[in-house]
Amino acid sequence: MPGPHLPLELVLRDGTPVRVRPLDGGDRDYVAEAYRRLSPEARYHRFWTVTGEIGGKMLDRLLNEDPGNHEIWCVYDPSRTFTPLGAASWWRSKTEPEEAEFSVTVLDDEQNRGIATLLLAILWLTSFRNGITSLVGNVMPENLTACAWMRRTGASGHWDGYMNTFRWQLEDLDAIPPTRAGMELAEWLAKLAPGLLAGGS
Ligand SMILES: CC(C)(COP(=O)(O)OP(=O)(O)OC[C@H]1O[C@@H](n2cnc3c(N)ncnc32)[C@H](O)[C@@H]1OP(=O)(O)O)[C@@H](O)C(=O)NCCC(=O)NCCS
Repeated sequence: MPGPHLPLELVLRDGTPVRVRPLDGGDRDYVAEAYRRLSPEARYHRFWTVTGEIGGKMLDRLLNEDPGNHEIWCVYDPSRTFTPLGAASWWRSKTEPEEAEFSVTVLDDEQNRGIATLLLAILWLTSFRNGITSLVGNVMPENLTACAWMRRTGASGHWDGYMNTFRWQLEDLDAIPPTRAGMELAEWLAKLAPGLLAGGS
């Protein structure tokens, strides 16, 4: 079955048109530049380092093409020259094959516009299409913003003494709470499911 027509053409809640597509090995310079534009705090929270340049090994890990086991998607603004707004990825666990690790970063100036929630909906559907039933995000305890966002989109978290681990159960749509972020997530899932659940990798 054919997949969706890419890039997806969508509209954020403030009316901004955006495009969304997977990233691949041809996007190394694009991802490296987006990394440079992150604040040290955002870099630390997502990549656990504050260094100004992304390393080659991290680029390899992010952009490695491994259909069925890893995907990375980017939201960008087609009206601007350099345009990434945020990106998110999932990796299938080697030990728990129905589980995937989820990570997301939204550029500082673009936060609180619903971009992470849109990316979560896309990764929810693309991972589910590949047999994943739970997404797991690891968050440092001081990263209150990410902890709040994960809870507000329905993830349940636990503290293991080192970090907070949040889990979305992808088959349990009833666990998505009636927060603004939760309701937006549910709306994106309903809107995007017909296209993104078609054609597994
Ligand atoms: C966490 C992060 C991904 C959220 O991205 P975002 O695009 O701003 O998120 P959204 O706009 O989709 O959703 C924001 C939701 O989180 C809530 N939120 C955001 N900051 C918050 C805070 N400081 N306290 C409480 N809630 C907060 C908002 O209230 C909103 O929920 P609501 O719509 O129900 O009110 C973003 O802050 C980020 O990239 N941080 C740096 C990297 C990182 O920490 N990644 C997570 C670890 S992998």
